[in-house]
Formats: sequence, C-alpha cells, structure tokens
Amino acid sequence: MFEGYKVVITGATSGMGLAAAKQLIADGATVIAIGRNFAKVGDLGDRYIPCKCEVRDPEQIEAAVKFIDETFGGELDTFINAAGAGTGPYGVTNITAEAFDAGVNMLLRAPVLFGKALYPMLLKSPHKNGSIVNICSASGHAISGDNMIYNISKHAHIHLTKQQAQQFIGVRSNSVSPGFIDTPIFAAPGTDLGEEAIEQMFAFVRSILPIPRIGTPDEAAEVILFLASEDAMYLNGADITVDGGLGTVVSG
Ligand SMILES: NC(=O)c1ccc[n+]([C@@H]2O[C@H](COP(=O)([O-])OP(=O)(O)OC[C@H]3O[C@@H](n4cnc5c(N)ncnc54)[C@H](OP(=O)(O)O)[C@@H]3O)[C@@H](O)[C@H]2O)c1
Repeated sequence: MFEGYKVVITGATSGMGLAAAKQLIADGATVIAIGRNFAKVGDLGDRYIPCKCEVRDPEQIEAAVKFIDETFGGELDTFINAAGAGTGPYGVTNITAEAFDAGVNMLLRAPVLFGKALYPMLLKSPHKNGSIVNICSASGHAISGDNMIYNISKHAHIHLTKQQAQQFIGVRSNSVSPGFIDTPIFAAPGTDLGEEAIEQMFAFVRSILPIPRIGTPDEAAEVILFLASEDAMYLNGADITVDGGLGTVVSG
C-alpha cells in the first residue's frame, strides 16, 4: 500500500507516531522520524531516518525542513503530526504566560510551521496523494478545567486541520482524535503521573467506555494509515475519533 512512499512523522520515537512509523516501513515506506530521544528506539533499519528536533524551537523546525528537503529531493507523500506531551495543570485561574507559550508552541505552532514549510513538497507527492494527518485528541472535543492549555491547543489543531484542508489546495489534511491510548505519555513530563495513578485512571476509563478497554498505539496507527492511504482520496478536513466510544459518554 505504501511502497516507495516518502513520509515525515513528528513524535516518531514513541507511542502512536512510532507505531505508525513501524507499520508504514513494513508496508514499504521510508520515514523521516522526528523526535528528541532516539536511544529508546530499537534498530528499525535504513528506512527509519532519525531527525533530531525540539518542535518548540522554530530554528530547529527550519533545520529539520532543510534536512527533509535534501533527503527526499523536495518531494513528500505524507506528513504525520504526532509530537505532543501534557502541558501541566493549568486552568483559567492559574495560567502563566510561560506555561501557555511552552504548551501552545509545541501542540499548535509546530504543526502550523511544519505544515506551511512542507506543503510545497507535498504538492510534489510522487504518488499524487500528498496528505497531512494531524494527531489531535478527544480533548479537542471536550472541556477539562485543569488541562486547559492541552485542550484549547487540541481544539485549535482540529480547526487547523480544516483550515489546511481548505487552503492547501492539492493536498488533503485530516485528523485523528484518540481517546485513551496506552502510550508513555501519561508518565512523561507535562503529565507526570505515577504508575498507580495511571492504573486508577485507566480503570475508571475502562469502567465508563462502551468498549471497556484502553486503545493500543497500533489501533490508532491503523486509522492514521487509512487517512494517508489511497483508500481515503476523497477525505479532506475530516476528524476521526479513535476512542472506544468515549465521546458518547463524555462530551464538552
Ligand atoms: N496517548 C493518548 O491517550 C493520547 C490521546 C489523545 C491524543 N494524544 C496525542 O497523540 C500524540 C502522540 O502521543 P503519544 O500518546 O503517542 O505520546 P508519547 O508516546 O509520549 O510520544 C510523544 C512523542 O512526541 C515527541 N515529543 C514530545 N514533545 C516534543 C517536543 N517538544 N519536541 C519534539 N518531539 C516531542 C516525543 O519525542 P521524544 O520522546 O523523543 O522526546 C515522542 O516521540 C500527541 O500529540 C498526544 O497529545 C495522545
């Protein structure tokens, strides 16, 4: 399905981004993997090309784009935006400018800047299927008091997807909004939950979900690949929730 595809994935060292990278590589694609810590990724072969980049830093994004341009000869089929982390316990009463900038720059400004820079390469998609898949969140459809920066960024990222779909003529842009997926994000900086708190949260989520289990990174990656594939050539500006039915029991 993805034989010879040229793909860029941010957040490709862990969780859903890594799962998508593995599935795409198994299907014949070459992936430029954007992340910060590659030590935790095993050997995925020559078609997994690491590119170190702190996505909060526009200069590092510029350097990554130059690397992508040179490596892929100015052509790109698929751009998957999966980099992300928690943004701390902030709501409207305790928000700080510093925390706001750090969160929004990672979750929103980076996808905006990468999208703008990669659009001309996606237009030259060798497979005539240039597309963006943004990994947004069920949080982009809900209100959560002490998770404000994350939620407003994800709301805006879903909107950005539709904006890109409207204005990036010749390139499709769609998003996936996961519910609870079992990845390292819950223990990572920005969320910092311990093992016990994660298990308590997962137990609660399982108890309310119509599909009473937490999703796997591979299940989310399968939907990401569908949106990037030639089976989704007429999907543009869509957001697909991958949440086991969470949105049917919790809503904003
Ligand atoms: N897991 C869930 O339940 C869930 C639900 C809804 C939405 N999401 C969203 O899905 C996306 C993927 O999350 P995940 O659960 O797969 O998380 P994860 O396993 O923790 O992976 C996050 C990835 O993002 C990268 N990253 C984080 N901050 C970065 C930064 N400032 N600069 C560059 N790279 C950065 C990490 O790179 P390094 O580790 O190399 O630094 C890692 O590759 C995120 O946008 C997240 O918000 C997750």
